[in-house]
Amino acid sequence: MPAPSDHSITLTVNGTAETLTLPDPRVSLLDALRQRLKLTGTKKGCDHGQCGACTVIVNGRRINSCLSLAVMHDGDQITTIEGLGAPGALAPMQAAFLHHDGFQCGYCTPGQIMSATAMLDEARAGWPSVVSGDLTAPSLSDDEIRERMSGNLCRCAAYPNIVAAIREVADTAPEDAA
Ligand code: FES
Ligand code: FES
Repeated sequence: MPAPSDHSITLTVNGTAETLTLPDPRVSLLDALRQRLKLTGTKKGCDHGQCGACTVIVNGRRINSCLSLAVMHDGDQITTIEGLGAPGALAPMQAAFLHHDGFQCGYCTPGQIMSATAMLDEARAGWPSVVSGDLTAPSLSDDEIRERMSGNLCRCAAYPNIVAAIREVADTAPEDAA
């Protein structure tokens, strides 16, 4: 029986092209980021799509990186929490989470921030949620924020402060937040 061949892929992660040779095509994107690229800001909570701790943005859309195989992302643009901002130059969502204490232990926080960042882009593009009453409403209700963030769990239950942080960014025009 022939030995399985290595799988070579190139991901653009936080603006840098990274070529990886994976001995096994079953490596998840989450494990490739954490174990191969040492980008450990993306967290592994459940490892089966239930908690959102592993959320990253791929080609502009948020995904659970634990549910996606790295080999499916050859050529893709991936943003992790390390690429969203930097110490001294935080992204608006990162700054808002600090301002509102949107965490306790912090384990879910990278996923919350990545998900919230992409979620606001979805809302601004007019994507509905199951609680959307009026897509032309000038701002997201707290119910909208909670529904759209329902894939990101927080075991510390910091939800009120998480919603407050997201609200701060949601109520800021994108050009003002940049
Ligand atoms: S670790 Fe991916 S959803 Fe929980
Ligand atoms: S801050 Fe602890 S799990 Fe969310």
